[in-house]
Amino acid sequence: MVRFENVIKRFGDNEVCRELSFTVAPGEFVTLIGPSGSGKTTILRLLMTLERVTSGLIEVGGEPLSHMPRGKGLVPADEKHLRKVRKRIGMVFQQFNLFPNMDVLRNVTEAPVHVLGESRDAAEAHAMALLEMVGLADRAREHPTRLSGGQQQRVAIARALAMRPDVLLLDEVTSALDPELVAGVLALLRKIASTTDITFLCVTHEMGFAREVSDRVMMFDAGRVVEEGTPDVLFTDPGHERTRAFLHAVLDRR
Ligand SMILES: Nc1ncnc2c1ncn2[C@@H]1O[C@H](COP(=O)(O)OP(=O)(O)OP(=O)(O)O)[C@@H](O)[C@H]1O
Ligand SMILES: [Mg+2]
Repeated sequence: MVRFENVIKRFGDNEVCRELSFTVAPGEFVTLIGPSGSGKTTILRLLMTLERVTSGLIEVGGEPLSHMPRGKGLVPADEKHLRKVRKRIGMVFQQFNLFPNMDVLRNVTEAPVHVLGESRDAAEAHAMALLEMVGLADRAREHPTRLSGGQQQRVAIARALAMRPDVLLLDEVTSALDPELVAGVLALLRKIASTTDITFLCVTHEMGFAREVSDRVMMFDAGRVVEEGTPDVLFTDPGHERTRAFLHAVLDRR
């Protein structure tokens, strides 16, 4: 469902992705771990088309994302191509990023109406079903600022799902939440992961959650995959000293 092939991403002299290659299978839940600055957010932003690759190729669902076919080859994607391919991908951010000037329902229906061209009625029916699923149907007409952080994040998740994404990107989605709100959001994500065939790429410091839901964990450092494996192996018996040191540091902090 997702393929990075020799992706290089530079910001000036800073090479953040170093010939990065990996694939994620349809329906797989992959967690990215690694130290601050190792490029985790950049990988998600490249997929969300918020950043462009310096070189290399990204594919989503077998279609090139960073590039588009022209003649017999590929050329860098233009805006139209990016708009088309990025419909398949949803992202939830640490800071929710809800539209502050719209109520909850409107937050969820805006993109389906304006990007997918759904009728407002159809978009609202779908949005209400999603708000029901995230436990917030009764807050549909509320302004986001009147909701708790955990509730806002559940709206952001409903908003991402409203686009019927094949791939959902999660970037530290519980890091900005008060501790007592974290469990509710993680439970919701667990439910979505187990009841849909959405492919997940998740950056999180919630190692317990990662261990429970991930099919695979990839450890990044300095723009490369240091090692990857099932959570059982990677969290209990990592092969690399770098992973061991990172896990120690993260687990000690808690
Ligand atoms: N828009 C940008 N312009 C310049 N440099 C950037 C930009 N975005 C990221 N970087 C740099 O790229 C590197 C990787 O950043 P990134 O945010 O991907 O790391 P991360 O692994 O998500 O870290 P964290 O765990 O702290 O969120 C950092 O050195 C960062 O300063
Ligand atoms: Mg980050």
